[in-house]
Amino acid sequence: MNLFDVYPIYPIEIAKGLGSYVWDNNGTKYLDLYGGHAVISIGHTHPHYVERLTSQLNRLGFYSNSIKIPIQEELAEKLGKVSKFEDYQLFLCNSGAEANENALKLASFYNGRKKIIAFSHSFHGRTSLAVAATDNPSIVAPVNETDNVVFLPLNNESALEAYFTAHGNDVSSVIIEGIQGVGGINIASDAFLQKIRSLCTNYNAVFIADSVQCGYGRSGKFYAHDFSGVKADIYSMAKGMGNGFPVAGISIAPHLKPKYSMLGTTFGGNHLACAAALAVLEVIENDNLILNAQVIGDYITGALKGNPKLKEIRGKGLMIGIELFEPCEETRKKLIYDYQIFTGSSSNKNTFRLLPALNLTKADADIFLEAFDKMTK
Ligand SMILES: Cc1ncc(COP(=O)(O)O)c(C=O)c1O
Repeated sequence: MNLFDVYPIYPIEIAKGLGSYVWDNNGTKYLDLYGGHAVISIGHTHPHYVERLTSQLNRLGFYSNSIKIPIQEELAEKLGKVSKFEDYQLFLCNSGAEANENALKLASFYNGRKKIIAFSHSFHGRTSLAVAATDNPSIVAPVNETDNVVFLPLNNESALEAYFTAHGNDVSSVIIEGIQGVGGINIASDAFLQKIRSLCTNYNAVFIADSVQCGYGRSGKFYAHDFSGVKADIYSMAKGMGNGFPVAGISIAPHLKPKYSMLGTTFGGNHLACAAALAVLEVIENDNLILNAQVIGDYITGALKGNPKLKEIRGKGLMIGIELFEPCEETRKKLIYDYQIFTGSSSNKNTFRLLPALNLTKADADIFLEAFDKMTK
């Protein structure tokens, strides 16, 4: 049987990882500034993570959501504490798309409405509603097309206000990434997020903060939306949550009440997934990784800012977009093959992304900065 060929891949086989480094099957060492697409939050094979997962697996890997699973409650309590949203409620699932799908569905159950507002260059996943709310027609199948989603320009307050004035009582939810990832690191402005908050409150619509990529401390705050000083009604999270173990969730405001069977999942919140997610939060908390993301992120962006070969540096914390004046594919290849550094692409062909583990050190950052300096001399 062949694999279904949907991914353009680099012909490199990664055989092991440790911290911010990975090794291929020939023993070549690479600096991982991609984190397997923003997934590796606490570094590869972190000893606490390995130990917590191993000991859980030795006791019990899985049992269904039809029984009491105390480790889910432990995770909810820890997430509430670390994210500082202790009065919110947690629903667990398996991937970012599924988290957004559940968020959009829950919003519609709540207010009985159908219209969803999403924004230009957004990416929310590949399942039916999530992909319909993604601004990329090439990945939307005919069966996913719907009139229920409207796209408005990002950071355009008057367009948003005008839409609400005309159709506000039909709007079920507004979904927005705090920092767009796939779209090429575009920051939602504080004023725009504040405007979404006030319009959603006025019209009883649900504010969904897609934190799948920009959440979990990557931006230097737990959720990138936190910079705006307003709270969303639902936060979706996934990537960094399990450091590679598939686990995702939505954090839900208290006024959105649960009802039996309105949401559900077979695998979501299983024992192993919760052990992985708890290990991640414990390391984030004990090692002060949100602060580290901010400090090392500022160090990298500060060092790159004077480089005249760069059109723009965007981002916050360790979610950094580097925009060149030309397509960046060759630069990324050179970084991999000549300097052994992994970075991430984006749908903006001139922009590549740095999405490393949140415990990246200054010395690791210097390896990239020196390589990049040489390349752009
Ligand atoms: C902002 C955002 N939302 C949702 C998703 C979808 O997550 P998943 O691939 O886990 O379904 C992604 C994935 O890149 C993402 O970046």
